Amino acid sequence: MDSKIRLVPLFTSQQISARIDELASEIGRDYRDSCPLLLGVLKGSFVFLADLARRLDFPVELDFIRVASYGSKLESSGRVKLLSEPVARVKDRHVLMVEDIVDTGLTTDFIGGWLKSKGPASVKLCALLDKPDRRLRPVEVDYRGFVIPDRFVVGYGLDMDEKYRNLPGISVINGE
Ligand code: PRP
Repeated sequence: MDSKIRLVPLFTSQQISARIDELASEIGRDYRDSCPLLLGVLKGSFVFLADLARRLDFPVELDFIRVASYGSKLESSGRVKLLSEPVARVKDRHVLMVEDIVDTGLTTDFIGGWLKSKGPASVKLCALLDKPDRRLRPVEVDYRGFVIPDRFVVGYGLDMDEKYRNLPGISVINGE
């Protein structure tokens, strides 16, 4: 680990786990009888999706979508490109997008548009973290873990230059 980087804990793994229990209850109330497609957005969502899926005590299917962002995320013109689409059928399915974080909203906006072009029965969003201060596109977060301030966070799937995804909790970089 870079000795100049300081990680200040924001949420412990226990806090995250307790919140996921609550999210799973909410999701269960809405999806218990519809075998939803849980669609993880790679790469950041892989830890959250793994934990969330194991809390759901009813049938679900799982798949992944991978996108890349180009240009500065401070620009609303920032572009998002599809790198890998899900194999699972989307048409007529109840799709629950699973994100680690919604920041500018560009990624969610892009994936939501892509999904809707495939004729799903419904599309909703579950995001562990919501950073509304940086929003460039309106995004409705249907199941939200935590609202966070405009700080750079890592851990629990979230990276800085591809590092720190494996940390069990979520921390703020440099204590910003
Ligand atoms: C992160 C995160 C979301 C996206 C949210 O992914 O996993 O998918 O950013 O940001 P936005 O709301 O500003 O679009 P990132 O592009 O860093 O890729 P990664 O998941 O592979 O880390």
